[in-house]
Amino acid sequence: MQFNLVTPRIIEHLKRIVGEEHVLTSSEDLARYALDEIEERYRSLPEVVVKPRAPEEIAAIMRLANEERIPVTPRGAGTGLSGGAVPIYGGIVLSLERMNQILEIDVDNMMVTVEPGVVLGDMMRAVEAEGLFYPVDVSTLESCHVGGNVAENAGGARAVKYGLTGHWVYGLEIVTPTGEILRLGGKRIKDVTGYNLIQLLVGSEGTLGIITKITFRLTAKPKYVLDLLIPFDSLENAVTQVLEVLLEEINLSAIEFMDSLSIRAVERYLNLRLPHDESEAHLLIQVDGMEEDVVWRTGERVYQKLVRAGAKEVFVADNRLTRERMWRARREIAQALKALYKCVSVEDIVVPRAQIAEAVHYIRQLSYRHRLEVPIYGHIGDGNLHPTPVSNERDEETWIHDLDAFLLEMFRIVCDLGGNLTAEHGVGLKRIKYLPLVMNKAEIALMQAIKRAWDPNGILNPGKAVPLDSVL
Ligand code: LAC
Ligand code: ZN
Repeated sequence: MQFNLVTPRIIEHLKRIVGEEHVLTSSEDLARYALDEIEERYRSLPEVVVKPRAPEEIAAIMRLANEERIPVTPRGAGTGLSGGAVPIYGGIVLSLERMNQILEIDVDNMMVTVEPGVVLGDMMRAVEAEGLFYPVDVSTLESCHVGGNVAENAGGARAVKYGLTGHWVYGLEIVTPTGEILRLGGKRIKDVTGYNLIQLLVGSEGTLGIITKITFRLTAKPKYVLDLLIPFDSLENAVTQVLEVLLEEINLSAIEFMDSLSIRAVERYLNLRLPHDESEAHLLIQVDGMEEDVVWRTGERVYQKLVRAGAKEVFVADNRLTRERMWRARREIAQALKALYKCVSVEDIVVPRAQIAEAVHYIRQLSYRHRLEVPIYGHIGDGNLHPTPVSNERDEETWIHDLDAFLLEMFRIVCDLGGNLTAEHGVGLKRIKYLPLVMNKAEIALMQAIKRAWDPNGILNPGKAVPLDSVL
């Protein structure tokens, strides 16, 4: 891919578009935009950072970049785990942090319209204050931006009941790589006019367009929520119980899993203790609904079932404080592992739910065989786990070699079970090279053709989500 450098003339032009103070070029500033939450070794400096405030400014930036063949990497809060916001070819980082307004909460239509730089947790609280509910509950909800959630099609803990981000996206305003502004969808619940470009943009990892406005559908806020924390002495037992519970219950809004390595790490990191932390595994189950007795009866049924199946005890959180403590432990596992280990790779595999026990079993066996420590946690109710190989002993070269050998085998097993490489973090930078394991040439070529149709010069977030044309 042939790109040009950002010259002083281009920087002057960018300053005219967004204002001098919103164009950053100092080395300290550039360093702050060189990485997201992917591993440190993927760090790559941009040549310039711009912070536009309006879609028209973004359109002008894209027209300039397209004409001059300068790569542009859009960036939200930089909480992504697959390197989507890393500017691997330098060029422009286009940060959406100043576009952070909640524009409208339309109670009658049960829709909220926001700019991409709104923090997810802020949007959730704002709509809840109006009696409405945005259910997609991402671990980094207090820092991630909703624009990034859409670009990556974030999933999180409640996807088992409420689906991924894309399920709630009804309208998008975007700027194309060539600088056109498109307004797609809106507040219509049903609309099949034309191809579904909205859902093509959802999860396109910032490679097809820059999201400048989003309309999310909302639902009614559940009146009652109950969380259950359930320690198990046997990992197998914990995992197989998930399916049994799913077959009988419809009010479960989360079924999360943490193994003992994950629990120990997060306890150390947050300096807290979870009940029965000597157990092999914990499940964290959430029940929600509109009627108190239904929610409690469901909780009771799940409790009875799991105790009969060998759970040691069930801890119930029906108040905010206990609930927050349980969930904080679950949400901070990835951060804990990153803080405690020098080498860490947060993975994101998914298998059909009936194959989840096999997946856990094989990944465990594989970790022993490769002599790698691999904590496993994640959204087991969706068949989505985050096996996270870690090491403090290996040097960089050995780590990369051992990790790659482990991942290749893990991905093969996952595919044999009918699974895939990533459920919610995206292909990004780190999984591009594994795509041929799960897609044939024709499928990759079709994705490349779609990319070319939107972005003929390949300037928008090159090298992410879909292999560059030159790869085939
Ligand atoms: C989580 C992130 C790693 O589930 O997706 O905590
Ligand atoms: Zn997750």
